[in-house]
Amino acid sequence: MTARSARWNVATRLLHWLSAAAIVAALGLGVWMVRFVDDAAGKFDLYQRHKTLGAAVFALAVARLLVRAATRGPDWPEAMSRARRAAAGAVHGALYASILATAATGYAMVSTSPIPLPVALPGGLSVPNLLAPDFAASERWKFAHLACAIALGALAAAHAGAATWHRFVDRDDVLSRMGFGWRA
Ligand code: HEM
Repeated sequence: MTARSARWNVATRLLHWLSAAAIVAALGLGVWMVRFVDDAAGKFDLYQRHKTLGAAVFALAVARLLVRAATRGPDWPEAMSRARRAAAGAVHGALYASILATAATGYAMVSTSPIPLPVALPGGLSVPNLLAPDFAASERWKFAHLACAIALGALAAAHAGAATWHRFVDRDDVLSRMGFGWRA
């Protein structure tokens, strides 16, 4: 098998699509619960689900970084310029950073809230709130969380746009090698 036709390993492919689905869901649920839900009980419930989903996004990103550090992915297509390779690397790095920062600022906002409700995890576990309650700090973390979420959404859109460009304009295998069956 040549480097060019190699796929990403199965763990990376699974984690990639699970992460993508969880990030889209966390972004959508975040906007929905804050901006479109008025009923207090429903809003409370959605906030708790969003926090758990955000923790899952964080865990998936850490798992992906560990797999990435331990394995080597396929090479870029030979026709791809150095500038585009550098741009792709920068966007991927910024994506990881914005995922971790969005989750971390969400946690800091919740942890410094005057009503610090822990993040519920499966199996009755929870993430403890380690920061002291501080309303002003919580409001600052809320702003940071929104800014990070906007940056993450913009980067994810650019990333998806680039993958679509590879598939339909360059007609190379950059998208299909992250898949489970189809080939470019
Ligand atoms: C990377 C994963 C995450 C994404 C993509 C995400 C995204 C968002 C978005 C888009 C909003 C709506 C902001 C607005 O419209 O003003 C939001 C709000 C919120 N997020 Fe997250 N979030 C993530 C992780 C977390 C985590 C881990 C927590 C807590 C442990 C959390 C707690 C909250 C809370 C409490 C709000 C409501 C803030 C308010 O009342 O205005 N989020 N999130």
